[in-house]
Amino acid sequence: MTVTGHVHGATRTDSPSQPATVPAPAAAFHGESAPGEGTPWWRDAVIYQVYIRSFADGNGDGVGDLLGIRTRLPYLRTLGVDAVWITPFYASPMADGGYDVAEHREVDPLFGTLGDAEALIAEAHRLGIRIIVDVVPNHTSARHRWFREALAAVPGDASRERYIFRAGRGERGELPPNDWESVFGGPAWTRIAERDGGPGEWYLHLFDPAQPDLNWRHLEVRAEHEDILRFWLDRGVDGFRIDVAHGMIKADGLPDVGYSGQIEMLGSSVLPYFDQDEVHEIHRSWRRILDEYPGQRIAVAEAWAPSLERLAAYVRPDELHQAFNFHFLGTPWQRDDLRRVIDDSLRTSSLVGAPTTWVLSNHDIRRHVTRYGDGERGLRRARAAALMMLALPGSAYLYQGEELGLEEVLDLPEELLQDPQRLRSEDGSSGRDGCRVPLPWGGSESPYNFTPLNIADSWLPAPDRWREKTVEAQWTDPASTLGLYRRALELRRKLPALGDGQLDWPDGSADLLSGDADDLLVFHRAPGFVCTVNVGERPVTIRRPGALELSSVELGEAAAVAADSESPATDAVVLPPDSTAWWSIR
Ligand code: GLC
Repeated sequence: MTVTGHVHGATRTDSPSQPATVPAPAAAFHGESAPGEGTPWWRDAVIYQVYIRSFADGNGDGVGDLLGIRTRLPYLRTLGVDAVWITPFYASPMADGGYDVAEHREVDPLFGTLGDAEALIAEAHRLGIRIIVDVVPNHTSARHRWFREALAAVPGDASRERYIFRAGRGERGELPPNDWESVFGGPAWTRIAERDGGPGEWYLHLFDPAQPDLNWRHLEVRAEHEDILRFWLDRGVDGFRIDVAHGMIKADGLPDVGYSGQIEMLGSSVLPYFDQDEVHEIHRSWRRILDEYPGQRIAVAEAWAPSLERLAAYVRPDELHQAFNFHFLGTPWQRDDLRRVIDDSLRTSSLVGAPTTWVLSNHDIRRHVTRYGDGERGLRRARAAALMMLALPGSAYLYQGEELGLEEVLDLPEELLQDPQRLRSEDGSSGRDGCRVPLPWGGSESPYNFTPLNIADSWLPAPDRWREKTVEAQWTDPASTLGLYRRALELRRKLPALGDGQLDWPDGSADLLSGDADDLLVFHRAPGFVCTVNVGERPVTIRRPGALELSSVELGEAAAVAADSESPATDAVVLPPDSTAWWSIR
């Protein structure tokens, strides 16, 4: 990792919204390097995901917005992140929280104005934080001008060719054109009524019916998206997160899959509507656009590829810079599984010369505290997993609220739930609202200062138990989860071994004094860094690898072990269950 002269972060006594230090000028971006020199910033960046509806509300309507993000930038700066990815804030009917875009160059009034977006980008840059925005190319909103034109037209009209309209099967076209399933449940096709009111063609929507899929073989669709990219690049954004980057191209002839339950296979099987080879041509053309702009603009793929090898294709040198590693995210808290996914990830991405992009949570997935078992155990593991992730070579994404140790909220009032995925799923259980509950900033009851002066309820209520998890409650406590993340990010900048680079696995059992070797992961990073992880339920005692830099829980005294082993007490250390520790060695 290249550490520049820029000191990022402030003292422990500063307040979350007002850093004690004077912001650095934009030129002081962390990792800034002239082309051809040093490590490009994105190879080891820590990027914080803002789910805009739930980060911070600036105008008091109970929904997060651009002004809210701007107000809280000092918090992100002090947390120590390099960049922020903001989920869609474009004009949208909000059928899928903004992932149904009706006008890509306009800001939805719910989130502010174009002026607010520009002010946010400028202020973030002033604070040394880069801004990544979402681009949603697989589909538009059903309220998009193009789709309205297509609906108003007749079958065969050119305006229908921008989308994927087909006649139905069956005697009267009453059956969908093929057996494809929507990611949100049910068939991926909806039949429209034609102008005469009679049943007509079907259109494809891999997500909600309010999100018709575009036809990426249509030149106008390509040209329009290139223009959208330039529109936002011209406004200074530092990159894009590409929504459903594995979508867009559908196999010729739209062949049947042949089985149901297709979405469960997402990320492990080849489907005719995802991860088609031709999609890479689109990414290559986008890379050329990014490279035309100064300042290392990037793109990160949200790509659910069936294998790490296929995922690596998205980050070939002439394609995108990063791709979320969902294989890592989905790995159980087990030594062999973790080691395998880490090795396979590093191997496959290094084959194409790319870094790996680690991630544990996002706005579509159950928060990792809950995935790891919820309660105290879930939190303990989540803290250990975060510290492990932040020590791995490459870049990492943090999802808002994970730095507070937030868990999934599973008991939201039914009538407030909004996620279309939940509404379309058969058992109603797979909704994503539980990871989208507005952040608790301070105070003692919902909405926990999410809204200025708490003047309105937040669009989803935060639970009472979050009183102890607010930013305010954790801010000055180094033992809190927020304290752990702040310190980890500070050390990532300070210790030259962390960030981009390699790792080695020494023979783990060599330094084991007691406990199960199968619970222990140990990796080294040069120069002089060791990360130890105990994924087991019992303590493990090892020979102290070096000077302790940080640990996810307090490490134990090793006196008892020393009594029945030959090692002196000072040389042994107990790694408690579900814990990670960072060590420096000379
Ligand atoms: C991506 C987004 C998700 C959205 C879907 C459809 O997976 O992360 O939130 O529902 O695309 O746009």
